[in-house]
This record gives sequence, structure tokens and C-alpha cells, in this order.
Amino acid sequence: MPVTVSDEQLQSQFTYIDAIASMNGGKKLRAYTHTFGCQQNEADTERIRGMLREMGYEMTDDVNNADFILFNTCAVREHAEDRAFGNIGSLSHLKKRRPEVVIALCGCMAQQEKNVEKIKKSYPQVSLLFGTHALWRFPSLLYRVLTGEKRVFDIGGEDDIAEGLPVLRAQGPKAWLSIMYGCNNFCTYCIVPYVRGRERSRRPEEIEKELRELVAAGYKEITLLGQNVNSYGKDLGLDIDFADLLQRLNAVPGDFWLRFMTSHPKDASPRLFDAMAECDKVAKQLHLPFQSGSDEILRRMNRRYTAAEYRALIADARVKMPDITLSSDIIVGFPGETEQDFEQTLQLVEDIQFDLLFTFLYSPRTGTPAASYEDNATPQEKQNRFERLLKVQDDIVAKRQAAYQGKTLRLLVDGTAKGPDYPYTARTEGNLLVCVRGEGIEIGSFIEATIEKTSLRCLFAQKR
Ligand code: 5AD
Ligand code: SF4
Repeated sequence: MPVTVSDEQLQSQFTYIDAIASMNGGKKLRAYTHTFGCQQNEADTERIRGMLREMGYEMTDDVNNADFILFNTCAVREHAEDRAFGNIGSLSHLKKRRPEVVIALCGCMAQQEKNVEKIKKSYPQVSLLFGTHALWRFPSLLYRVLTGEKRVFDIGGEDDIAEGLPVLRAQGPKAWLSIMYGCNNFCTYCIVPYVRGRERSRRPEEIEKELRELVAAGYKEITLLGQNVNSYGKDLGLDIDFADLLQRLNAVPGDFWLRFMTSHPKDASPRLFDAMAECDKVAKQLHLPFQSGSDEILRRMNRRYTAAEYRALIADARVKMPDITLSSDIIVGFPGETEQDFEQTLQLVEDIQFDLLFTFLYSPRTGTPAASYEDNATPQEKQNRFERLLKVQDDIVAKRQAAYQGKTLRLLVDGTAKGPDYPYTARTEGNLLVCVRGEGIEIGSFIEATIEKTSLRCLFAQKR
């Protein structure tokens, strides 16, 4: 059973929230947050923003105008780390000009020794640093900074779950709902299990309660989050798995779409696809990362499935849900990837015809097994493979998008678009981006619309 932060411990954090609110009393203080990385990080930032709001902070998009600045960081690839360091570096002038500004860093980078040391030594402008495990302790940590402690660093903590923290969600009809945290898979390239700890599932009644609140508050698209949602429940000791959870959440009354991410092929099962097909509120959309089309590379990635097994899963999903939208993650240039290995990846992409791909160049992560694997391909070769993959995928997407021409679909309007001709953005059930026009369109509503034209990135539709 996962450990839940006790009511007493949480209560003490609310005491700090109140204490900061009364310290701030009357003053108009502003907070700026910037999130790198995945949806899990976005959901975490929304909790921190919730706590900040209770402390009396207003949110601002202007970093120069903020009294509290937070970077929620990502460690999955080097590029994300470099950008975080770059952002913090560029704030040293602001800190000199306004020493009272509190600059904080949290998230996955803050859970790694080497980054913590670097911040300690070379980024004196950061006065608060806390890891993913300490998120719920943020009020007490900020309190220590605000009451005079020069620098507060908290990278400790257990793999526990904190329920009942306040949340300030982004505007619009979409919401994240974390159902579990952490990862047990230890893919050899991936830093996530080291920085987010072991898998722990929230109790189903807590998840259902939050979903009911979201639906009552008018949210129309709720995405269930976890590093590997298909293994939901394994640690709970209850008789419930992810397919059961979907059935349970599907029974919550209301007009909304349920999505989920991310899934792992080794835990995705025909049972899951049966549940998806049966549940009318579960969007017929699946993000199922396969990473490589070569069995040898998959073995060395510790993915625990073969390309043939992956193909069989997709075939099963398509039999049960013929219109399902598919997306995947791929790593190009994993250590030892040969031209033949890469061609197998290309072949899988050609055969499956994904609607959307997230492609990444392999980035070595200190502390993961693959970081010490022998690597033969040159950066130029890897870049070349990467571009070939993008080209193949662009051709597939162009064809798939064009096939929507003239179709009438149910869409969720979720925002305003840049162009004047189609002033709103919307999503299909399959999560494809649509720009729409027509009379009486309201953000947050479901509409029927007919696709008038298509491009690589967007469908264009007229409301009916
Ligand atoms: N290098 C490149 N891509 C990575 N991913 C995870 N770790 C790495 C890495 N070290 C990719 C995987 C994963 C996605 C979230 O990020 O494709 O599915
Ligand atoms: Fe990383 Fe693999 Fe876990 Fe995904 S399943 S978070 S890629 S270790």
C-alpha cells in the first residue's frame, strides 16, 4: 500500500500557508511559474500555484514583475536541463536589482545530486530548491525563506502521496487528473524512476471524487496522468486495475471525455482495449510509446516487448476501435543503433501509420545504464536518421489529415486561434487540433463541425 501524507502533516502545511498569507497581508504580491517537461509537471505546478494563491499571491506572466519566481524542471533530456539553467542564469540581474525576489527551482532536476551541487555553487540567485517528493512541503519551505533563512534546499522525502492540496488549474475546459506517481520500469535510457521514485497509485475513491468535482466545475476533457497508467492499482492490494478504473470513472454522470497517458506496451492488454471500447466517455485515442522498431534495441532499452508484440497490440486496438487515433514516442540514436535497427523503426512507422509522433534524439542521462553503453553512430548519422524519420512521418500525417476532408465530427472547443478566418481552436475525440469558425461558438462546449480543409498540423472546420 502506498503511504499517504498524514492529515496532521498536511494540516501543518496549511498553517504555514496562513502564516505567509498574514505576512503578505494587504500587499499585492505576484508569482510567476514556468514549467518544463511533461503533463505530470504541469499538474504539479498547478498544485504549487494553488498553494501560492492561498498565500495571497496573484499570478503573473511577467517574470520581471514577480516577487516569487518558480521553475518546475525536467531532467528527461539534456536540452530541457540546459534551458532551465539558461533561464535561471538570465535572472541574476533581476535578483541584484531586487534582492527581495525569491527564485525557486523544483521538479526532476532538483532531485539529482549533480544539479543540486551546480545550483549551490554557481546559481546563488536560487534561494529555494525542492524535489518532486517535497512538493507538499512547499509552504513550510517558502516560510523559512521568507523569514530570513538564506537558502533552503529540500531534496529528501519518501515515495508518498499527498491528497487534498489546493489546485489552481489553467483556464479552459481541460484538466489533468493524476492517478499515480513514479515508475518501476527502469528503461535503460530513462531518468524518471530515479527522480520520481517507485510507482504508487492513488486510491480509486480519491480519483473518482476529484473527477466528480472536475465535472461539476464544468471541465469537459479530463486526462488521467501517470508515467505508466496501465500498471495502475498493482501496488494498492485491492482488486482493481486500470481497465476497472476506466469503467468506474466512465460511470460518473456528465458529458465529458476521458483521456489517459502514458501507456506502456508491456502492460497494455486486450482487456484494456475492451474497456476503452465499452466506455463511451473514454476518448478513442491511444498514446503508446514504442521507442524503437528493433528487438535488439528494445531488449537493450529494457522495454520488455518485441516489435511483433507491439504490432499485435495495435491490431487488436484497431479491431475493437476502428477509428482510434494513435500516437507514439520514438528515440533515435540509442547507443549501438545500427542502420538496420533504424530501418526497422522506419518500417514500423510506415506500417502502423500513426496520427502523431514525438521523436527524440537519444540524450545520455548520468546515472542510467545506457549512459555507459558503447555508442558507434556519429551525431551527424543520428541527425540524418532523425530527419529521415520526420520526413516519412510528415508524408503519413499529410495523408491521414487529408482523409478527414468533408467529415463531420464532434469537437470540444478549447480556446481562441491566431488566424482571423477560423477564430477558435478545438480538439477531435482523437485529440487532433482543429481551427473552427461559425456562429455562436463558445469555449468549453461540444459542437458538430464539418472539415473544410486540412494541413499538416491542423484541420479547419465549419460549425454546423
Ligand atoms: N533521451 C531521449 N529521449 C528520452 N525519453 C526518455 N528518456 C530519454 C532520453 N534519455 C523519451 C522517451 C519517452 C519520452 C517521454 O521521452 O521517448 O517516452
Ligand atoms: Fe521512463 Fe520507461 Fe518509466 Fe516511461 S516507462 S518513465 S520511459 S522508465
